Amino acid sequence: MIKAIRGTRDLLPPETALWNFIEATVRDVFRAYNFHEIRTPIFEDTQLFSRSVGEETDIVSKEMYTWEDPQQRYLQMRESYVEAFNAQKEGRTPTGLVSLELLAGTQSLTLRPENTAAVVRAYIEHNLGQRGLNKLYYIGPQFRRERPQKGRYRQFYQIGAEVIGPATAGSESPARDAEILELLATLLDRLGIRGWTLHLNSIGCANDRAKYNEALRKALDPVKDKMDPDCQRRAVTNPLRVFDCKVPADQPIIEKLPRISEFLDEPCRQHFQQVQEILKSVGVEFQLTDRLVRGLDYYTRTAFEFTHGALGAQNAILGGGRYDGLSEALGGPPAPGIGFAIGEDRLVMSLSETAEAVVRKPDVYIAPLGPGMNKEAARLARELRRHDIVVELGDESFRLKKSLEIASKLGAKHALIAGENELSTGVFSLKNLGTGEQKQIARDMLAETIQR
Ligand code: HAM
Repeated sequence: MIKAIRGTRDLLPPETALWNFIEATVRDVFRAYNFHEIRTPIFEDTQLFSRSVGEETDIVSKEMYTWEDPQQRYLQMRESYVEAFNAQKEGRTPTGLVSLELLAGTQSLTLRPENTAAVVRAYIEHNLGQRGLNKLYYIGPQFRRERPQKGRYRQFYQIGAEVIGPATAGSESPARDAEILELLATLLDRLGIRGWTLHLNSIGCANDRAKYNEALRKALDPVKDKMDPDCQRRAVTNPLRVFDCKVPADQPIIEKLPRISEFLDEPCRQHFQQVQEILKSVGVEFQLTDRLVRGLDYYTRTAFEFTHGALGAQNAILGGGRYDGLSEALGGPPAPGIGFAIGEDRLVMSLSETAEAVVRKPDVYIAPLGPGMNKEAARLARELRRHDIVVELGDESFRLKKSLEIASKLGAKHALIAGENELSTGVFSLKNLGTGEQKQIARDMLAETIQR
């Protein structure tokens, strides 16, 4: 038997009702903060992620689903041949398009492991900076080849948002950081999620980072030989990534490393200070966690994570931060930005007890009684559904007892009997399955009675 791939899963009812409830609530909240939806492709040029998330990160070095796209090679070759053919016909030298390299070339593509890089790519590609400040949100699947466990999947879903624009539009302001964090607190409260903790840190501006990296290298130099080979390499190439090393034996070394908070320069410290002040004034509680560096390279200044006690080992419900240099790193104009992504799978886990409560059960189950009644029941159902009533249909071959049993099992509020007699008189038996009460109702009063 063919089964779903390890780390992927089918989302089934009734849980899908909870996913829909979450997404509808989230869309409402985004609307109130003037965010608009963006949908980017599921796969992108591999370089987009290696240049933004960073070569040394776990995501890029181990977890991406990447392949060489053969169709691209074919298309490029065909283009080249057409150009070679035309050039020969026109008696000119073919343009640079025809090169052996290109003929042999394929394009490396990757299933998106996250969506910030793609949003910034789209920002650059469509010149979104012209509009000033862009507040964009997305909901969709991401892919990482991680070891599957509770709350960690290879296909998982993120609800994310990014605020990006030229500095003249205020995109650099600490007010943006605070607004994002306040939005998140509101969102979690609206969804009924209690007991979360906001961990907040500043990982410094570009200058501070250079100084901090130097200090980390210096501190790691005498001890790095004792570390896991992966961490040893990082200690040289990208020392900040040493904090992602999970090997228990390396933890005492990591614990003694210098802290970024000691390296923040004055403007950066002030920015962080202002974020905290606004948060205090709007009553959003936070915890300063100076070891929080985040597992992606594009971050600068504010970095944060929200954790939730009920989630077990994978307790980060969401993460985010500033990425002021990302647009430039991808060849775009200066465009400071800040954003977050919520792990929707984890959000659902922390709300799973509400799943039953958000499922809309049938308002009425129509039981057609006797031969030829299916077509009459279908007409009745059509009439009622026009009034936004949830209708489930039985079958004329069922006995009444069986129909009522099915209706109860489905959790229907009413059962409506549609037999020859009812149709000829235009008066129907409507049974309230909660109270057991049965009433005779005229056809034109059915919708109103069911909705009451
Ligand atoms: P991230 O911390 O890599 O950040 O992911 C954000 C959230 O996605 C995590 O906190 C977690 O809830 C969820 N998540 C990550 N990996 C998995 C997985 N394998 N299974 C289930 N859930 C997972 C980012 O992706 C950044 N793009 C966030 C961001 C947006 N920063 C700025 N803007």
